[in-house]
Amino acid sequence: MRVLATRRFIGPAWDELGDVAIDSLDDAHRDVEALLVANEPIDGAVLDRFPKLRIVANFGVGYDQIDVDGCKRRGIVVTNTPGVLTDATADLTFALILAVRRRLGEGERIVRSREWTWTWSRGFLADEVAGSTLGIVGLGRIGAAVARRAQGFDMRVLFVRSTETDEQLDDLLRASDIVTLHAPLTSKTHGLIDARRLALLQDGSCLINTARGEIVDEQALVRELVSGRIQAGLDVFADEPHVPEELLGLDNVVLTPHLGSATLSAREAMTRLVVDNVLAVLRGDPPLTPV
Ligand code: 8YV
Repeated sequence: MRVLATRRFIGPAWDELGDVAIDSLDDAHRDVEALLVANEPIDGAVLDRFPKLRIVANFGVGYDQIDVDGCKRRGIVVTNTPGVLTDATADLTFALILAVRRRLGEGERIVRSREWTWTWSRGFLADEVAGSTLGIVGLGRIGAAVARRAQGFDMRVLFVRSTETDEQLDDLLRASDIVTLHAPLTSKTHGLIDARRLALLQDGSCLINTARGEIVDEQALVRELVSGRIQAGLDVFADEPHVPEELLGLDNVVLTPHLGSATLSAREAMTRLVVDNVLAVLRGDPPLTPV
């Protein structure tokens, strides 16, 4: 078979691929020319098992698990799915901002556990989102889409690009009520929000992460959250699907299972782009969205 995928992706575009082998990356496949992956680790050992490979098409915009340089050295094209999941991820970011700031998880748990006994929420006051200061770390497509949404909420928006200096990032962390991460995971951003930087966040402020768990020192974040000093909305974790046990009982954290791109239309559009990239390369045409 010429095409192998680690799973079947959703949407009508899939059928245009024709025959696809669905398999893990553990076995050698000497005939496969196109590999469809969902950010599974692709290193030299995996590439050795696919000697005829021409394209690794990633179902996702982040490709941190793929050895892009190693692929390039072997003449293998790597593609991702930029653009089509921007709104879905920006929406989820805002859902987390609102859920954390307005204590939605906690409120929901109270109602479901039949502990809602009062007729107005006297002891249940939260932080206003409108008018607060939002610090955006990483101003790519998703960061910019979050900034646009923030304008509708009358927020003051600060931002740093992930390439900017340490000082600018530190200033943003000190000045923001809510900090949201939208940088790609690279060797430069790995552990970017470390214990020292977490300590710069204001008391009662909130960290949102819909990017990659490894951008934050997760153990240091857990300590800050257990102390109750800050809040967080987390869609991504360092070792998914493992979520640090200490977070599960905390009311100052809203936790979601990596849902950033999880809308039907975004996922179908991601499949469309993956399939178009694969078909282009197999035809001998340039890929649509190479990384
Ligand atoms: C995917 C993502 O769910 O696009 C990304 O970078 O994290 C998500 O859209 C993930 O890549 C798995 O395919």
